Amino acid sequence: MASGRAIAKVILLGEHAVVYGRPALAVPVSRLEAEASVRWGMQGSGILITAQDLGLRHRLGEPTPEALAPLETALLGALEHLEMGKDHDLEVEVRSRIPMGRGLGSGAAAATALVRAVGHHFGLDISASEVSALVFETEKVLHGTPSGIDNAVVTLECPLLFEDGRVESLAVGCPFALAIADTGVAASTRETVGDVRLAWEADTERYEAIFDRIGEIVRSGRVALEEGNMKSLGSLMDANQESLGKLGVSSLELESLISVARAAGALGAKLSGGGRGGNIIALAPSEAERDIEEALQGAGATRVMMTRVG
Ligand code: MEV
Repeated sequence: MASGRAIAKVILLGEHAVVYGRPALAVPVSRLEAEASVRWGMQGSGILITAQDLGLRHRLGEPTPEALAPLETALLGALEHLEMGKDHDLEVEVRSRIPMGRGLGSGAAAATALVRAVGHHFGLDISASEVSALVFETEKVLHGTPSGIDNAVVTLECPLLFEDGRVESLAVGCPFALAIADTGVAASTRETVGDVRLAWEADTERYEAIFDRIGEIVRSGRVALEEGNMKSLGSLMDANQESLGKLGVSSLELESLISVARAAGALGAKLSGGGRGGNIIALAPSEAERDIEEALQGAGATRVMMTRVG
């Protein structure tokens, strides 16, 4: 049996504006993983995809359940890339510990794990940038108009700056901890990205100005990250949150966890990902890590985890 794995991500700065060509920073979250396995099936059985967490099975050629369309796209893309055709008897299984609809890149990670497992099954190497390109196609099925940052960070597994399709991996000046706290509210990135687009179409000038501001925040954030200036990075996270509020993608639940994290000693905090639900991230200095974690738990976050960057 061949297997593949992939890890989660969070957007540190710049979500939404990145869809409009501005830069964004993202970091991997190695504690949360998706895994996929591929094995030969019974002769004549065709290709069967099982997504354990979705409780769904799908045989290729039969009508595709909507929720499995991205994984089917990943599988077909990988087979085509490897020039293997579709005429196989395969059992493909995907499992994930990455919560879905929480801005953690669960879709990109599941597709990445699957593409990697298919490569391993046929004993062929698919480079990180090729995996990323294949997973980008699945992100289009999942989100409509993705920027490409999720597939980039999930496949490269390092802190990076993404801008207009270009990726630069970054060296972190000083390792730091992020608290990731879940509001417990699932939100669709497709919907939030779609709503921002409608608002942008209705008042392009205003939204372009917000995106420009976010772009400036991200560029300063890159410098802060590389220099290890955590105070500055924290303030930039706060400034980014203010802009995200103006874009209309924050929510009462997100704002409440953000305030709690700041009051408990976080250097900065913001929503991460599509927004309206999902997770907040808070920059946690080592002396306040425990307080922040406990405060977020006490404030009703459904899950709090610390991740280290750098
Ligand atoms: C999703 O992780 C980040 C968004 O900016 C969408 C995208 O970049 O495709 C909201």
